[in-house]
Amino acid sequence: MEQVLFRHNRAGRCVTFDEYCGEGGFDALKKALTGLAPLDVQQLVIDSNLRGRGGAGFPTGKKWSFVPRDLPGPRWLICNSDEMEPGTYKDRVLLESNPYLLVEGMVLACYALGVRHAFIFIRRGYETGAANLRRAIAEAKNAGYLGENIQGSGFSCDIDVHVSAGRYICGEETALMNALEGKRANPRSKPPFPAVKGLWGGPTVVNNVETLSNIPAIVTGGAAWFKGLARLPEAAGTKLFCVSGHVRNTVCVELPMGTPLGEIIDGPCGGMRPGSRYKACIPGGASTPFFTPEHLDVPMDFDAVAKAGSRLGTGGIVVFDENSCMVAATLNLITFYARESCGWCTPCREGLPFVREVLSRIEAGRGELEDIDILREHVKYLNYAFCALAPGAMGPVEGLLRLFEDEIREHMTKRRCPFKSS
Ligand SMILES: Cc1cc2nc3c(=O)[nH]c(=O)nc-3n(C[C@H](O)[C@H](O)[C@H](O)COP(=O)(O)O)c2cc1C
Ligand code: SF4
Repeated sequence: MEQVLFRHNRAGRCVTFDEYCGEGGFDALKKALTGLAPLDVQQLVIDSNLRGRGGAGFPTGKKWSFVPRDLPGPRWLICNSDEMEPGTYKDRVLLESNPYLLVEGMVLACYALGVRHAFIFIRRGYETGAANLRRAIAEAKNAGYLGENIQGSGFSCDIDVHVSAGRYICGEETALMNALEGKRANPRSKPPFPAVKGLWGGPTVVNNVETLSNIPAIVTGGAAWFKGLARLPEAAGTKLFCVSGHVRNTVCVELPMGTPLGEIIDGPCGGMRPGSRYKACIPGGASTPFFTPEHLDVPMDFDAVAKAGSRLGTGGIVVFDENSCMVAATLNLITFYARESCGWCTPCREGLPFVREVLSRIEAGRGELEDIDILREHVKYLNYAFCALAPGAMGPVEGLLRLFEDEIREHMTKRRCPFKSS
């Protein structure tokens, strides 16, 4: 199958600038600067049906089209490389294997949007990724692909790497902008949306690493070719799936959008670990409801996964075998989210620790039947929090209640976790 994001990859090391350029790297930028107007590039992205790979799947070209072009003052592009969602490591793999795709994609996005200054907001701890990016930016500048008067076109733009202070909420796009401005990383209310009023009050586009890394191939190959890469007519492109848990091989693979879940587990992952049977998975990062064996045929695409009751999210798949306690797995996830709540709004600040306590007593065999209703009510309540962290945190809880109520009840009747020996 055709690779877009891993096309230039080398085994065990990062591709070099010369290797990238020797294989057509920066050709998309040259093509755009010599033959395409900024709005042509934006139209190509709209026509390609590229959807954001940061979790929500919002159409990228549509997001770009919301940026007002007639306002005075600067506009901004931010690449969201915070990637703190448990089970998700695809952006790290991209940055460690080929940072040039992102740099080229960002220059193209800046050109399309009329942005002169862009930022890469990167997770603290992604030291190799940040070093690769700094090197790639310096090399691109040296070769005239970044900086003043790029390739003699009259277009100039620059990219800065900013290392996050290190909290999960910094990945939420408005909290990220506050963090970048040097303020406390609380989310902002929307509207106004960042495309209209974002960083320092200027129009701002926030896109994920994988999203922006797709732009060079769309400019080179065209919208129809990009759409044709997917396995479903209404989907587009490829997707990075990073799989972990009880599979034989933990992998980050690039596959056509719409590849069925079971094919990912049986193919690149080599199936389950010897002696273990598949029970469930988180299909798209820690904030997505579980899938069970009945979902193994679901094509991994935004709409198909949503129709099946979960979310494609980031494509971070975590697989559980038959010995896994789903109450304990959910407790583990909610413990993370309760800790990472920014504390700004009451439902999330108070609600997530409470849900953690309820799950904790169920897991320990001290739960009562009414706890099931309490959890159900909190799935509803937490939809009314200020940002998407809290509803996302309740995704696995909702899945637990819908798919594993028997297992919850078993904890209550046995007065212990049925997956622990004593
Ligand atoms: C709590 C929270 C954390 C998030 N973390 C990330 C992240 O680490 N990386 C990311 O790209 N998007 C993250 N998002 C989504 C961003 O807010 C935003 O939608 C995304 O960066 C847009 O990029 P895209 O359109 O290319 O998907 C997060 C959202 C929430 C609510
Ligand atoms: S939902 Fe949670 S993370 Fe979001 S603003 Fe409220 S307290 Fe902060």
